Amino acid sequence: MSKILVTSALPYINGVPHLGHMVGCLLPSDIYARYMRMKGNEVLYIAGTDEHGTTSEVGALKEGMDVQAYCDMYHARHAKTYKDFNLSFDYFGRTSSEQNKEITYHIFEQLDKNGFIEERTVKQVYSIDDKMFLADRYITGTCPYCGYEKARGDQCENCTKVLEPTDLINPKSSVSGSTNLEVRETKHLFLNLPKLEQRLSEWIKTKEPFWPDVAYTIAQKWLKEGLQERCITRDLKWGFPVNKPGYEDKVFYVWFDAPIGYIGITKQWADENPETRDWKDWWLNAKDVRHVEFMGKDNVPYHSITFPATLLGTGENWTQVDYLKGMSYLTYEGGKFSKSEKRGVFAEDAIKEFPADYWRYWLMSNAPEGSDASFSFDLFAGVVNKDLNGVLGNFVSRVLKMTSSKIGDTIPAGGEMTAAENELISVLQKRVDDYLKYMDEMEFRKAMNELRAIWVEGNNYISVTEPWTVIKTDEARASAILRTCINLIRIFAILSAPVMPEVSASMLDKLGLNLKDVPSLNGFDVKKEIMSLKAGQKFVVGEMLFERISPERIEELKQKYGSAK
Ligand code: MF3
Ligand code: ZN
Repeated sequence: MSKILVTSALPYINGVPHLGHMVGCLLPSDIYARYMRMKGNEVLYIAGTDEHGTTSEVGALKEGMDVQAYCDMYHARHAKTYKDFNLSFDYFGRTSSEQNKEITYHIFEQLDKNGFIEERTVKQVYSIDDKMFLADRYITGTCPYCGYEKARGDQCENCTKVLEPTDLINPKSSVSGSTNLEVRETKHLFLNLPKLEQRLSEWIKTKEPFWPDVAYTIAQKWLKEGLQERCITRDLKWGFPVNKPGYEDKVFYVWFDAPIGYIGITKQWADENPETRDWKDWWLNAKDVRHVEFMGKDNVPYHSITFPATLLGTGENWTQVDYLKGMSYLTYEGGKFSKSEKRGVFAEDAIKEFPADYWRYWLMSNAPEGSDASFSFDLFAGVVNKDLNGVLGNFVSRVLKMTSSKIGDTIPAGGEMTAAENELISVLQKRVDDYLKYMDEMEFRKAMNELRAIWVEGNNYISVTEPWTVIKTDEARASAILRTCINLIRIFAILSAPVMPEVSASMLDKLGLNLKDVPSLNGFDVKKEIMSLKAGQKFVVGEMLFERISPERIEELKQKYGSAK
């Protein structure tokens, strides 16, 4: 048994997550955490909301709320949505917690003591009416290059040129619209990343065999280009006040304390049970912890360069990332998800339309790994109708109904294993081994493909053995076939559990079983498992596992959620 620390990039508190956020880091991390638990490992699965920064201040202002109350409200909404999606966090915390503050302060003090923090004077735009320094992207004006009138202070969306806020013509605050702006000088603290470059590149070398190509390539590219100093303080109110004399009226930059949040949230978890849990067992001088991180590809540089360097700079022995799974993007009907333009399915609504497992399975079997993927209701309905309902759901209901009507409501006795069963066992074992290998490697699309192929083997077996014909002449043989099929239902339920926990539980429930009594996925032996359920045990036919989605319903959903532009 090993200790596996699983983290998902901490979603921004602002706004509500859509399907792209779900598949970009949250869902794959959950599937991995569940899988690793089912292999018998000690897993700690941590996530939470990323709460600080200008976006929260501006968001709260727009909704006329106090920032703390605004974050409390959105934190609860995030937590509820993820619970509805059955994400099995050990703890879903917050980067604004006292625990995170304590650890952020400690890490900052270590960096400062070790000489990695520099003071710099910088020029920044101050909004007199808003009484605040404005982050670059909160200043809008006319682009000097293309004349676009809504260019932002960091970049022009129209011509993509990177801008300085002072480049804009007629700049104004996008917080209040005020044009009463001036450039002021102010002091900030910088993390001296160039000084940490050597240590970082040595550390990265130790990671080579464990990192997927994309993460490793991005990290190498950054190192090659040379690291820049990074400003880690901001002139805001919402954040952790900087614990250094002269900086009391500034806060840490959101990206400084956000990844420290993984540790802070672990401490939140431990503080609820201090007698039995210690956050340090996972993070500081921790032994035998493998840390696996899930995130969208835009998050890779921060997690492979800046944050590891921050931890290295403390001179302490923090748990670093061992494996980093970066995901690409999911588009909606070929375009972007957009709350303001009412286009795309947001997680809160998704769950009202269909059970979580439908989404979980679709999203993982179409996961944007390597390249981007696109969601459409046609594709979604195709998978639900064909794979879930047609292959898995049908097999389960057909087998149980046939057994119940021809033999009875207990697992039938009689009959021996024949060549057909031996063939099934060997084909299935090969597929199961591949499935588990892909899950170990976090190749989710391939894993889901294999899972589906495993269900298909059930249908192949029943078509070849034809129990409905055999029963007319040889009841013992028909019994053996149906008993094998019922055992397949149990096997399918166990293997599907990481991705479809509810469906899996209801499959087991039909057989009077519970996920708690299933064997470890470590070295899963089909030959043994296919004889697990003995004759005489009761089962119930119950309801169909999945509901078909009709063409009319698809049209309705397209109307309701908007189509791409
Ligand atoms: N909130 C960021 C995003 O959604 C991710 C932060 S990950 C963290 O892109 F580790 F820094 F918290
Ligand atoms: Zn422009």
